[in-house]
Amino acid sequence: MDKILVLDFGGQYDQLIARRVRDLNVYAQIRRYNKISIEEIREEGYKGIIFTGGPNSVYEKDSPSYDRKIFNLKIPVLGICYGAQLMAYLSDGEVSSAKDSSEYGSTKVRVREDLLFKDVPQESECWMSHTDFISKVPEGFHVTAYTDKCPCAAMSDPIRKLYAVQFHPEVTHTEYGTQIFSNFLFEVCKCAKEWTMDDFVETSIERYKKELGGKKVLLALSGGVDSSVAAVLLHKAIGNDLTCVFVDHGLLRKNEAEQVEELFKGKFGLNLIAVDAGERFLTKLEGVTEPEKKRKIIGEEFIRVFEQEARKLKDTEVLVQGTIYPDVIESGKDDSATIKSHHNVGGLPEDMMFSQIVEPLRDLFKDEVRKVGLELGIPYDMVYRQPFPGPGLAVRVLGEITKEKLAILKDADAIFTSELEKADLKEKASQYFAVLTDSRAVGVKGDARTYGYTVALRAVTTNDFMTARITRIPYELLERVSTRICNEVKDVSRVVYDITSKPPGTIEWE
Ligand code: XMP
Repeated sequence: MDKILVLDFGGQYDQLIARRVRDLNVYAQIRRYNKISIEEIREEGYKGIIFTGGPNSVYEKDSPSYDRKIFNLKIPVLGICYGAQLMAYLSDGEVSSAKDSSEYGSTKVRVREDLLFKDVPQESECWMSHTDFISKVPEGFHVTAYTDKCPCAAMSDPIRKLYAVQFHPEVTHTEYGTQIFSNFLFEVCKCAKEWTMDDFVETSIERYKKELGGKKVLLALSGGVDSSVAAVLLHKAIGNDLTCVFVDHGLLRKNEAEQVEELFKGKFGLNLIAVDAGERFLTKLEGVTEPEKKRKIIGEEFIRVFEQEARKLKDTEVLVQGTIYPDVIESGKDDSATIKSHHNVGGLPEDMMFSQIVEPLRDLFKDEVRKVGLELGIPYDMVYRQPFPGPGLAVRVLGEITKEKLAILKDADAIFTSELEKADLKEKASQYFAVLTDSRAVGVKGDARTYGYTVALRAVTTNDFMTARITRIPYELLERVSTRICNEVKDVSRVVYDITSKPPGTIEWE
């Protein structure tokens, strides 16, 4: 199968680029610039290479770089942003920094005739984010696009099939981004459209049959989309050698534990062990208020419970996790900052007894995971179910977690979600839930003064969960939810709606 190498020079766009390529049915692999040698690139037989952007300046000491012989491999290269500057720099062009040439955000770009811009109008919107720019194109290259501030918004050397764009075709704000990728893949690299999610399912099943054949494998089933898809995928590969352990940590939504058991044991016939560990988790979390600490404790406790189960199931050595890509980048890769440590990546204790960890969905975005789920025959409602964080309601009960607070949150959440679903807003909101804040507020019920909790409602609309906007819920609905929660849930005297996008907020409150 034809494949493209996304050579990652830092920043957070590498997966987005890979995803654009995959959306065009070409397989893309991401490798960090310092983790793949030029020999390996040659041996892998890539049809094209894409250099990603990155936060550095090419001329700084220790900036990510690559062997300039990469341009002699006769493999087409597309450089994006930092990648474009690196291409210029390594080919003896010039890159300069000038504050007055910096551009951030949506910018008008004008393109000249070039294979990369086939079917791209002369003038369109692109997304810029740079201070440095290519001030002199290298020999053999010519400028193929420019903006008001940037004299070289793109350059190409069509003979050597080297292309570079200063802007970001991978973000949706670049109007013709998809067209540009399509031109690179099909006009320049002559790739065949061979990658579909069918291949992912098929190749993963084959791969795990071979890799795990005969081994006893344990999977942490949370009931969320990711681990459910991982479970069914692995079940297809190794059948009953897979045991799923469902840990009810007592931090699940109302009635969730029962539903998960019914679905996976009943409908899918998975080998499922349900462990009721609510008390155990609550004891560990007693007095803990710091969000990262909560995550770490829950992550570690999860593993301990699994280990315990694994010991009972003799010879279990492999642990499968439903980690998906946004978990991976946000837990900090090599040198990018840690935003939150998602428990299924960051919290693993070092003394774990599993000799192998398998993460079949590690490279996929949420919508790709869903496609895989549907292909595996998992029902639509299950696959399009909103995500739920591993640490569960622990990150939605702010401050210390107690049984009482959990009960309040479960009831408030059930009212909010059911009202939203009744109002047919399910499609519009990608994730919606209630949060129990740690603030109390004065209220009045009947003639009595109350002093209860403040519940916050959160609903966001997003494709990839890396950025999100708030869902515009009609006031009438918010009012109804608020009235119901205040009337029906003991100890709540305020309901507020969270109107923060991501960024700057995250989706969860902790
Ligand atoms: P944030 O809050 O980082 O969340 O904007 C992005 C998406 O990830 C989910 N999330 C988690 N998922 N373990 C998970 O498996 C976690 O610790 C975790 N924290 C957040 C969150 O619900 C949203 O969909």
